[in-house]
Amino acid sequence: MVDIAVMGHGVVGSGVVELLIKNHDSIEKKTGGIGINVKYILDLRDFTGTPYDEKFTKSFDDILNDDSVKIVVEVMGGCHPAYEYAMACMNRGKCVVTSNKELVAQFGYQLLAAARDNNVSFLFEASVGGGIPIIRPLHQCLAANEISEIAGILNGTSNYILTKMFKEGADFASALAEAQRLGYAERNPAADVEGMDTCRKICILASLSFGKHIYPDAVETVGITGITKTDVAYAERWGGTIKLIGRAKMLENGKVFIRTSPAVLRYGSQLAGVDDVFNGILVRGDAIGDCVFYGKGAGKMPTASAVVADVIDQTKHIGRIPKRVFWGPAEDGWVESADRCAEKQMVRAAFSAPGMAEKQVSDTFGDVDYIHISGRPENELCFVTSEISYGKLSELKSVLENEAVRVESCIPIFEC
Ligand code: HSE
Repeated sequence: MVDIAVMGHGVVGSGVVELLIKNHDSIEKKTGGIGINVKYILDLRDFTGTPYDEKFTKSFDDILNDDSVKIVVEVMGGCHPAYEYAMACMNRGKCVVTSNKELVAQFGYQLLAAARDNNVSFLFEASVGGGIPIIRPLHQCLAANEISEIAGILNGTSNYILTKMFKEGADFASALAEAQRLGYAERNPAADVEGMDTCRKICILASLSFGKHIYPDAVETVGITGITKTDVAYAERWGGTIKLIGRAKMLENGKVFIRTSPAVLRYGSQLAGVDDVFNGILVRGDAIGDCVFYGKGAGKMPTASAVVADVIDQTKHIGRIPKRVFWGPAEDGWVESADRCAEKQMVRAAFSAPGMAEKQVSDTFGDVDYIHISGRPENELCFVTSEISYGKLSELKSVLENEAVRVESCIPIFEC
């Protein structure tokens, strides 16, 4: 029998305890006969009427000072005190399992170093992709590959909202409220819809794939709040759809391109059909080629599934060599400046002199492909540029704006 503690009894934490109880017998078989006993549940709130009321504590020290507790599950969210608690547990020889992407994206390097120094494990499968196995596949099953690119729909809430709004006609507020009711959204859903959650997850995947820590504040991040029905209509006319994508790519100069933003995806491409709360993650390796992971990216039980899998894995390794995941620190300038990274862009703009519009576009952007939709205002043009760096794009936008053109949107085309 191994004693564990679960810190946090919110959506994911309660799912972890329920799953460990519900599947107790089959889990015990998978650990080779070692039962998993939840000895403590840490939460500052009062919970009564659960089948396990006696396990609740408000004191972290109860967990820290109990040497029988070998594995601590951190599902509180946020960086503090999660970071201090995780560090303290590992310094006392306890393994830590977390679903906390903010924590891993911000402090992964320090936490993994502490795990190594204390000869314990720090596991975080649930931090990306909810129930989808992605962390372990990346560092174990795909370990033979040089990973050149990783890209994904990584936020269930915003994908759910985009699907409800643009396929089913829902408005933003009601789609978000439903995502909150279903337990998909963050406590502060701005992190979902403004792209920070996707940014944290692509930082974790990129750090793991490329071996050096990438911090969220180094990543250009745009969310879904500016996406309009008009943009989606143009994307559909072009033959695609718009999704919030986190992507990271090794460049030929040895630096990393990393970005979170809405992107236009061609229908039939590998991530375009990923809807609702589902996530899809494309990994490009030199041996495997493209490999796509798909499943529920948020929600109580899918996320609990990943957390409990880490607990089971760790239970099997009690008293043996710890599970080892590691990445190093990054030198300054390892993340390529967004200004120097190039992509095709779908640009939509309103022109003050419609008769001159196409000339203004070609004088500024050169050859472009126009997208036409009947019934749109005469002074509006939407077009797809050739590959252009973000630095050049903002320069050309300013040129148009100085000619009294209103640039309504620029959305990169993501070909995968
Ligand atoms: N709020 C997150 C999402 C939860 O919607 O994807 C899972 O990380």
